Amino acid sequence: MWEEIASLTEAQLEAGDLAYRRWARTRLRSGTLVGFIVESASGEALASGCLWLLPTQPRPMWSGAVAPYLMSMYTEPGHRGEGHGTRIVRAAIRWSRERGYGMVLLHASTAGERLYSKEGFERTREMRLNLLPGQAVRPRRVRKPLARRRLRP
Ligand SMILES: CC(C)(COP(=O)(O)OP(=O)(O)OC[C@H]1O[C@@H](n2cnc3c(N)ncnc32)[C@H](O)[C@@H]1OP(=O)(O)O)[C@@H](O)C(=O)NCCC(=O)NCCS
Repeated sequence: MWEEIASLTEAQLEAGDLAYRRWARTRLRSGTLVGFIVESASGEALASGCLWLLPTQPRPMWSGAVAPYLMSMYTEPGHRGEGHGTRIVRAAIRWSRERGYGMVLLHASTAGERLYSKEGFERTREMRLNLLPGQAVRPRRVRKPLARRRLRP
């Protein structure tokens, strides 16, 4: 997923993969990370995504101390546009609703934004400050449609 959505070096990808595997394994065991996998009839993984049960603060309109966070969404390039991503998002929403969670959170990549919007996700106003500027991650450049680009006189 990271290889497609950000400009990273091979070394960054390798290190990230190792750290993520360790992080995910612990949480899968403790049940605070839940995986959804779409398989072909022969058992080949075509697409997957995870829900991480993220600790969060109670708010006036929502008293929960945990919010499911949808992440690691990926569909094999040869199987995109076949509805697998949508299937995973819907399964994750259903899973969360059945367990009484009041909200599902995520951060969308450019490729994922349309899919999430169609399933009812709204943009929020999250901000962040990078304290490791030397290691800033640049998203891959995606050309905007001509009509949406600001034209200079
Ligand atoms: C985002 C992603 C998970 C969507 O998965 P998917 O299995 O193609 O999703 P769906 O088939 O449910 O399609 C969702 C929408 O994306 C469109 N789409 C995305 N990539 C497509 C492709 N390569 N070919 C055709 N349609 C594509 C579909 O048309 C569909 O829109 P529609 O319902 O209006 O037609 C997948 O493109 C992906 O793995 N991208 C790279 C990693 C990434 O960005 N992950 C998300 C991180 S937040």
